[in-house]
Amino acid sequence: NKTEKIQLLRKAIVTYPNFPKPGVTFRDIFGIFRDITALRAMKDLIVEHILFLEVDVVVGLDSRGFLVGPLICMELGKPFLPIRKKGKLPGKVVEHAFSLEYGEATFELQTDFMKKGARVLIVDDLLATGGSMRAAVDLVQLTGSKVIECLAIIELTTLKGREKLNVPVHSVVQYG
Ligand code: PRP
Ligand code: ADE
Repeated sequence: NKTEKIQLLRKAIVTYPNFPKPGVTFRDIFGIFRDITALRAMKDLIVEHILFLEVDVVVGLDSRGFLVGPLICMELGKPFLPIRKKGKLPGKVVEHAFSLEYGEATFELQTDFMKKGARVLIVDDLLATGGSMRAAVDLVQLTGSKVIECLAIIELTTLKGREKLNVPVHSVVQYG
């Protein structure tokens, strides 16, 4: 059941104090990928949640969002589009600078593949300060598409990232 699946994820996620900087407690999603039972549980939990959201496109954040997005796309039968750090995507792009828990970056999104009014689900591995997710929401909305939800596997609730977002937010495992 759901509680047992969430417990499997909690056991698989490894915590590293003071990485990549002093004071940051790093929650490593790759522990889930080393444990195939946990990975299946993660997929099940996401699919149960998104099945009725009527998603047209899944957008994933560079780089760990790329591990989550395509898993969901396969189940939904919908396309995956990447948001990448600046300078990686060819063609016409929109860009947005932001800060995150341990640094700063600029995101880009290819405009040619976004459709006005499309229902977009944005996915990432982890929601910390919400800086990355907020930039992603802004980029998608700039193209005229509609963000129906932001989904993160892990949420660091004490950093209050969801308060930065003016759209629904869902997370699977929370750490205070
Ligand atoms: C991490 C993580 C999220 C973001 C969350 O990515 O994967 O995308 O930080 O932090 P925030 O909520 O404070 O913005 P990172 O920029 O380290 O890149 P990576 O996925 O390439 O490791
Ligand atoms: N991205 C931003 N903050 C993070 C954290 N504490 N652990 C893992 N990824 C992160």
